[in-house]
Amino acid sequence: MYRLLYRVVLRRVPAETAHRAGFALIRAAGMPGVAWLLRWWLGPSDPALRVRALGLEFPGPVGLAAGFDKDARAVAGLGALGFGFVEVGTVTARPQAGNPRPRMFRLPADRALVNRMGFNNDGAAAAAVRLRRRAAGGPVVGVNIGKTKVTPEDEAAADYAASARLVAGVADYVVVNVSSPNTPGLRDLQAAGRLKPVLVAVREALDAAAGARRVPLLVKIAPDLADPDVDAVADLAVELGLDGIIATNTTVSRDGLATPPAEVAAAGAGGLSGPPLGPRALEVLRRLRERAGDRLVLIAAGGIETPDDAWDRLRAGATLVQAYTGFIYGGPLWPRRMHAGLARRARAAKSGPTAAS
Ligand SMILES: Cc1cc2nc3c(=O)[nH]c(=O)nc-3n(C[C@H](O)[C@H](O)[C@H](O)COP(=O)(O)O)c2cc1C
Repeated sequence: MYRLLYRVVLRRVPAETAHRAGFALIRAAGMPGVAWLLRWWLGPSDPALRVRALGLEFPGPVGLAAGFDKDARAVAGLGALGFGFVEVGTVTARPQAGNPRPRMFRLPADRALVNRMGFNNDGAAAAAVRLRRRAAGGPVVGVNIGKTKVTPEDEAAADYAASARLVAGVADYVVVNVSSPNTPGLRDLQAAGRLKPVLVAVREALDAAAGARRVPLLVKIAPDLADPDVDAVADLAVELGLDGIIATNTTVSRDGLATPPAEVAAAGAGGLSGPPLGPRALEVLRRLRERAGDRLVLIAAGGIETPDDAWDRLRAGATLVQAYTGFIYGGPLWPRRMHAGLARRARAAKSGPTAAS
């Protein structure tokens, strides 16, 4: 039904308009009685799927990646659709409008998206107010923070720390996003020398604001980093006692697309997401696991759209997986399908050494 709706209606309207319509429905799904019923139907219930990581309990390993619910408006509805966790944001210390529209494009031949949203959001304080009001029993919620566009790069650490302070009390975990291609200069902060002061400032802000509770801290990296830079981020994360890394954000590469070049060019600049990103995202994940051993929790993102994709990431060293684009193309039952498929794989793997390979 969703495929029919997509073919007949959704693909004919601008991607951001379709997103807004879907988003309104998901918010409605979060109404108390409705959410309970949906969660009962769609939520991960198989004990084989449960994950304990970052000091938190996840009912299933498949989460929603950052960017879909930037302002933490639909957490209850997204939890009701069966996501094991939801990462809200990116939020910035100050509210900002993002880039002019259009800024989100579909490449259906690749089941991919190109976006240059530019961190449009109401600000970290507004998201914190909404999260403080959320009802008990919802999903695990991570908060992804980024740099305010107008903040100069040499004040980045203080800007990130301001966001961290605002969300410390309401986030189950916090992610420092230094990997969006849509804020000028942001990805330069991935260089270890520039990343260190940001991560140190955020860790201190979280510790000062959250009191006795230690808020898990992760950093999210781009797939476009060269391999030695991936290693350097892993080493830094271990050195600073970070909890984990999210690999990866969108790519600026346009290699290997099935979409005609003119259509790709028409979308313009921005980050590419979806299956074309998968192979490099998996490579980065493997590299991180090899480098960091078991000292970091790795959350895989980038091109995950089937249970097999998710299974491959889990076997490559991810503890949890996230997606955005797979959910857009897969529709509201996508989280349920993912968890059901993973549960089958997990059981098959348990019942015989070669069954799941
Ligand atoms: C429209 C759109 C907006 C996004 N916004 C953010 C964001 O604000 N912060 C962030 O860390 N990642 C953002 N992302 C990246 C996703 O969280 C994810 O890392 C990336 O899309 C790769 O996963 P996917 O192939 O499953 O989409 C965005 C992705 C899309 C498609």
